[in-house]
Amino acid sequence: MTDVLVLGGTGWLSGRVAREWLARGARVTCLARGGRPAPDGAALVVGDRETRDAYAAVAAHEWDEVVDVSSMPSHVAQAAGALGERARHWTYVSSLSVYAADDVAGADESAALAEPALPGDAYDYARAKSAAEASVRAACGDRAAVVRPGLIVGDGDPTDRFGYWVGRFALAADGPVLVPGDERRSQVIDVDDLARFLVDRGEKRWHGVANATGPSAPLSDVLRAARAVAGHTGTVVAASDADLLAHDVAYWMGPRSLPLWLPADMPGFATRSIETYLREGGQHAPLTETLERALAHERALGLERERRAGLTRPDELSIIDALGA
Ligand SMILES: NC(=O)c1ccc[n+]([C@@H]2O[C@H](COP(=O)([O-])OP(=O)(O)OC[C@H]3O[C@@H](n4cnc5c(N)ncnc54)[C@H](OP(=O)(O)O)[C@@H]3O)[C@@H](O)[C@H]2O)c1
Repeated sequence: MTDVLVLGGTGWLSGRVAREWLARGARVTCLARGGRPAPDGAALVVGDRETRDAYAAVAAHEWDEVVDVSSMPSHVAQAAGALGERARHWTYVSSLSVYAADDVAGADESAALAEPALPGDAYDYARAKSAAEASVRAACGDRAAVVRPGLIVGDGDPTDRFGYWVGRFALAADGPVLVPGDERRSQVIDVDDLARFLVDRGEKRWHGVANATGPSAPLSDVLRAARAVAGHTGTVVAASDADLLAHDVAYWMGPRSLPLWLPADMPGFATRSIETYLREGGQHAPLTETLERALAHERALGLERERRAGLTRPDELSIIDALGA
């Protein structure tokens, strides 16, 4: 039986990875702080990675596979130091944000990385991922897979970004919806496609680096698909970058944002090469299926709830009104 240690396993992506390993017959142990359960069938070892003895209960074991999703360089370095030598294979979940620049469309995994973060530096996500990758490479060498996901989407997404669109079109019904009017690209990966790809890395003991995301598409195509899945029949109000910025609408994420809308000066961000992902057997669920699951999740949470990302419906209607649309 394959013995798998998931550093995490109680959250979104790491929970899906733990479940996928269980579905393939592995014995799975999750290490987390203990406030949330591990998936049914997995063991939970309670440990806080901020503490020195976090790995004491799992360090003597010879793991076939260790999966780490942390974005804290100190956590990743300590785990790799404590467990790396005895692990047969290690899969680290990095991010497409690890790259130094987003200025070249279609760039592959050889693009330059952000400077690795140093201890004591102010937290920077790209630099944190870069330092974490370096720790994994140093400890595990050719036993390590480093996977760099793009925007992870689907049901259960705690960031509230992708689900905003299908949820908003459903909430608006026959009313208006505000969308970015200046064309941008989008590149997303379904959480379950990603979990399968990550587990495949471990099963195959694959080593290397892979971007893991979907095909690059116009954002307007994604929004059109979200509208169709939601059955929206109202007006679509397309606002220019200048109009959205004039109304203090933020790019990409967070409150008062239009999720997935990117600044124009990041042509490389949603156009990364996925050749390695495809060559190594990575798959893509049809976008419609991902949107249907995202909509079910949105409905279960409540379409009018306070969101971590997006415009409130009253703010959206007031901007539409101010635009005279
Ligand atoms: N969301 C995206 O679109 C996106 C895009 C690209 C890359 N990524 C990357 O994908 C990865 C997965 O993201 P996620 O948010 O879904 O993660 P997640 O599965 O929620 O994993 C975080 C896990 O770490 C555990 N954890 C956190 N702090 C801990 C501590 N101090 N000690 C022990 N365990 C701790 C959490 O458990 P407890 O809280 O129960 O302790 C949880 O199980 C991240 O590396 C992220 O950078 C995400």
